[in-house]
Amino acid sequence: MARAGRQRVALVLVALSCQRAAAEAPLFSEWLRTEAGPQWERVVGHRFTRELAAGRLRNETLRSYLVQDHRFLDDFSVLLASAIAAAPTLDDRVPGAQFLALVTSTENTYFSRALRALGMSAPAEAAVADAPITTRFKRLMRSAAHSGKLANMLAVLVVAEWSYETWGERAVAERAPALDWWHAEWIELHAGPYFSSVVAYLRGLLDRSGEKLGEADRLEARSLFLEAVDCEEAFFNHAYAEPLAEPPDAKSEL
Ligand SMILES: *[C@@H]1O[C@H](CO)[C@@H](O)[C@H](O)[C@H]1NC(C)=O
Repeated sequence: MARAGRQRVALVLVALSCQRAAAEAPLFSEWLRTEAGPQWERVVGHRFTRELAAGRLRNETLRSYLVQDHRFLDDFSVLLASAIAAAPTLDDRVPGAQFLALVTSTENTYFSRALRALGMSAPAEAAVADAPITTRFKRLMRSAAHSGKLANMLAVLVVAEWSYETWGERAVAERAPALDWWHAEWIELHAGPYFSSVVAYLRGLLDRSGEKLGEADRLEARSLFLEAVDCEEAFFNHAYAEPLAEPPDAKSEL
């Protein structure tokens, strides 16, 4: 009796210490963000996001960014759809499916509406080549999708959405009073309660799937996460390195 009692006490103590260890271990998504180090801060504090909020972003920078960003919407949709398919239950799929509907409607049309407003015709948009960073980003999204591993897919999705939510919320707080709609709408697509719920959903799924991973799979998801953070920074930088001036005949092409 006494021995069984001691065993029970010992079991309870082990259980309690396991609980404490689990409570103290950082969430998988938090750990991944920490692993990205200062590069994460450079992405979420990038001058592109600050100039956007201040209404000081140059048209040629925004044109270049929007043309390239629109190019990987297809790959992004494939990645998100793959994560929806790989998620464990219907409840885990529904918020992703609803977000996919937003991405393929309002966000998809935003690109062409904004580019036309910025004096860039559809043929001029189509004539721009994919930037090397766009090709790299597309490859990352496709390879995460094709890996068949939910944690890999979510690692890339979480970088894209969590980093955008972080600067989006800051931009809402510091935005200039009279922004042009093409600036305001890009900020609003990445801030507010709905977008925060999307990020919480993606991070929650990533945290849960991260808990079940062995060491090799954890490291694989980590390397995709870090590659995505690197792509985000290079992507913002590219818009400054390769601005798109207004074509001289833009008015007649519109
Ligand atoms: C940027 O584009 C908008 C919309 O076409 C235009 O009104 C504005 O004058 C442009 N800004 C500059 C500095 O050219």
